[in-house]
Amino acid sequence: MKTHNLALIPGDGIGVDVTDAAMAVVQAAARVHGFAIRSQSFPWSCNHYLQTGAMMPADGIETLRGFDAIFLGAVGWPDTVPDSVSLHGLLLPIRKAFNQYANIRPHRLLPGVEGPLKATAFDILCIRENTEGEYSGAGGRVHQGRENEVAVETSVFTRAGVERILRFAFDQAMTRRRHVTSVTKSNAQKFTMVFWDEMTRRVAADYPDVIVSHMHIDAMAARMVMAPASLDVIVASNLFGDILTDLGAAIQGGLGFAASANICPDGSGPSMFEPVHGSAPDIAGRNIANPVAAIWSAAMMLDHLGEQAAAQSVMAAVEATTARGIGAIPGRQSTDEITAAILAALEE
Ligand code: NAI
Ligand code: MG
Repeated sequence: MKTHNLALIPGDGIGVDVTDAAMAVVQAAARVHGFAIRSQSFPWSCNHYLQTGAMMPADGIETLRGFDAIFLGAVGWPDTVPDSVSLHGLLLPIRKAFNQYANIRPHRLLPGVEGPLKATAFDILCIRENTEGEYSGAGGRVHQGRENEVAVETSVFTRAGVERILRFAFDQAMTRRRHVTSVTKSNAQKFTMVFWDEMTRRVAADYPDVIVSHMHIDAMAARMVMAPASLDVIVASNLFGDILTDLGAAIQGGLGFAASANICPDGSGPSMFEPVHGSAPDIAGRNIANPVAAIWSAAMMLDHLGEQAAAQSVMAAVEATTARGIGAIPGRQSTDEITAAILAALEE
């Protein structure tokens, strides 16, 4: 029997609950579809940091390298560990070490879920560059604390980095409605963003079947609210993608529904799947976190592992469940009740 090896990093707070829920669904999907899931769980988290002084051990990356995929719940406990430490000690090193340059996030309303917009039928796939751009980390501060203090932070856009994320977006569009909207701000940022626009035109020449639109980030923010149904694949830099995907999560009903994947497209390392939300300290330990975002992320993982039929069954089970009002309205059911309903739908 085909076996997939998963590394689990439940992390902190509700990350633990939603990872349990997602893995119960993945195991059930494996039973139904005739493959095996072997998983190993790692306790890397803010607690781990408090006990050992590090978010993960020094050989953490090498340990993860051997797995077929990584599933992460959420990491962060700002009362005891600063967010800059927890983020830079675990998530960001994993994304960089395994060249997970494509961050992909689907935004659509599940049946039964009420979003804040009048529009209900939209299906957007946001693709965010995940390794460079505005979050390159290049910069510095001088004369710190003095009147003449200076801070600089440089965006880094490499030809290789921009071309590969654009190609990834066009490839995704070919499997969907064949429309790519590239988001920049090339009127104001005349070097990096003009370069991105040029690369978009160059890559588009290899995809004659894909319709390409160029849009500025400010106009796109309005369009996602006013006319989300007009969008198919959106591709954007690290910062712009970060902001647009929070907007995307909002229009799809909130963080309880927002799924994501950090993909290493060349397969040189494992990809990582995680709900967009954090550890939610305000509701941790109360069995009220919505597991749908994590279960949807797990479906993306199954698809990536080549288990398309299982991925589709999981999404069908999630949709059948939210259509009945379970997991659709915040706070109505517990994490366990929503998970049980999805499991029952899956085994039907
Ligand atoms: P958050 O996403 O944890 O919570 C924001 C709000 O949404 C809270 O009111 C929370 O209760 C609610 N919420 C989030 N997920 C939910 C779910 N599945 N069901 C129901 N309600 C849900 O963001 P916040 O509070 O800014 O961050 C908390 C911690 O999580 C911080 O340490 C932060 O750094 C970390 N974080 C980690 C992320 C990751 O591991 N990828 C992503 C975002 C934040
Ligand atoms: Mg964000």
